[in-house]
Amino acid sequence: MKTQLRSQMNGTLRIEDLGKKVSLCGWCAKKRNLGGLIFIDLRDRSGIVQIVARPENKNYSLMEEVGNEYVLQVIGTVVERESKNSNLPTGDIEIDVEELKILSKAKQTPMIIADKTDALEDLRMKYRYLDLRRPIMQENMFLRSKVVNSIRSFYNSEGFIEVETPTFGKSTPEGARDYLVPSRVNPGRFYALPQSPQTYKQLLMIAGFDRYYQIAKCYRDEDARADRQMEFTQIDVEMSFVGEEDIYATTERMLKKMMKDSVGVDIEIPFKRLRFEDSMDLYGTDKPDLRFDLRLFNITKLAKLIDFEIFNKTIEEKGIIKALNVKNGAAKYSRKDLDNLADKIKSTYRAPGLMWLKYQNGEFTGSIKKYLNDEYVSKLTKELKIEENDLILIVSGKENIVNQSLSYLRNFFGKDLGLINEDEYAFLWITDWPSFEYSEEEDRLVAAHHPFTSPKKEWEDKLLTEPENCYSMCYDVVLNGYELGSGSIRIFDEKIQSDMFQAIGLTEKEIEEKFGFFIEALKYGTPPHGGIALGIDRLVMILTKSASLRDVIAFPKTASATDLMSGAPGEVSQKQLDELKIKIVK
Ligand code: AMO
Repeated sequence: MKTQLRSQMNGTLRIEDLGKKVSLCGWCAKKRNLGGLIFIDLRDRSGIVQIVARPENKNYSLMEEVGNEYVLQVIGTVVERESKNSNLPTGDIEIDVEELKILSKAKQTPMIIADKTDALEDLRMKYRYLDLRRPIMQENMFLRSKVVNSIRSFYNSEGFIEVETPTFGKSTPEGARDYLVPSRVNPGRFYALPQSPQTYKQLLMIAGFDRYYQIAKCYRDEDARADRQMEFTQIDVEMSFVGEEDIYATTERMLKKMMKDSVGVDIEIPFKRLRFEDSMDLYGTDKPDLRFDLRLFNITKLAKLIDFEIFNKTIEEKGIIKALNVKNGAAKYSRKDLDNLADKIKSTYRAPGLMWLKYQNGEFTGSIKKYLNDEYVSKLTKELKIEENDLILIVSGKENIVNQSLSYLRNFFGKDLGLINEDEYAFLWITDWPSFEYSEEEDRLVAAHHPFTSPKKEWEDKLLTEPENCYSMCYDVVLNGYELGSGSIRIFDEKIQSDMFQAIGLTEKEIEEKFGFFIEALKYGTPPHGGIALGIDRLVMILTKSASLRDVIAFPKTASATDLMSGAPGEVSQKQLDELKIKIVK
């Protein structure tokens, strides 16, 4: 990458370049003064090369002035190093300085520019441009760019059109709160930033584009988590005249190419599939990490063999009892470890408790041993295939609490017992979702995916009469325990769409106000269509083995939805508020 200021990038120089005259640019990553010689590690995005000046060098005194993170231009000759550094790709050579220019000075940086940093998250966010100078962050951003390029090239080669859709629009119901933007020219009215381009991409199918994709920014006002940001990016896809199998196959081909292009891994397709209910039953979650085998056992039925108050109460309240058999866990985990795990599931998932049994020296011990009889123990042993040194964990209570708690424990033991191969990528589809789920918060049924998702054919006319039994043509793609993407075949009939809106509790007036335009569009010849959206940030987070989305987004927000660097969200002037006819109530 030759420019007017440089002949090549620093990290590309090798022993073959000996004697070459070069002009290099970059940042001073480190300066050392050893026995009168001054060495500088000159860094650019390609790596580091060592610059050297001896005391007789005319640039020596200027070299002495250089501080960390100064930006330099160095003209010099590639020479062989006396003491080579085999850890560095450029470690055989160094540059003997002939001309040195300080292009820009730097203040003492508030954090060290290196992969390993002890800087706290807040400091990294405040000085994000310095944080991004760290080689590991640069690698993450380059990988992200490769991922996006590969995805674009895949869809382009398969006849998809890339279309940009507005960010100022009407509310799109994806389950989160909207970010609202006031309209100055229409006082009292607001745009909603899209939670996804869902309605637009369906309108593009009605418009006849047949196959669409977009690298789309989405905005959701929901609590941030390690894998959730208020502003994130989707690869959003929609196709006409398709069924579920077409979406599976196209997405698998895209992911296969992307994995090869970005991290050089050849993944197997087609992916494994699990029905939603089987996934909940076996793993207690709709996003199981299938890099390891550990499964849950539903042992509710065995409870009738004994008279144990906790189990009796669960059954009375229509709850469930499930267990996990942690192979070889009995000796490894002490009573105290198990108490700590119990505290964790109590505080996080409101689990009533954690019951356990250990099978050692041919005998069971544990917190609930005294409530069990021989028949129970023998059936449990058979069902869970209990062997010497196994640790059995049992949670009893409300179905969702039991599943969440045991799914957490499953992941805990998967990691703690080293059952996970960190280099493996376990993709799978979760299929056959119920159309609705009960929201405790709102005390009503809500769409399990979103209300544009088509019910399966046999449930089309039962959305209003038996919604709790309906299943939809919906699917999630899961990778290593994360929901990577989600999609569905869509409703393309206005009557079914109206039923669906009613089923989630919208009145006719609300349907007209919120989605009148959409229902109207369905009346003008709508092709059967379906699609999917995958979270790019999440994908890159997994591929880079990062702990948070913040490590793969150039300028992310903190957990409290702020940008510590610019200070956003900021206050605005009274004049701006007046123009918008907005009054702040303190
Ligand atoms: P969904 O809401 O499931 O589906 O989102 C699709 C994917 O987007 C990613 N994602 C997020 N990533 C980071 N931060 C967030 N806050 C966040 N929310 C979602 C996830 C998720 O799987 N319109 C539908 C798709 C469709 O039906 O075609 C939709 O948006 O990886």
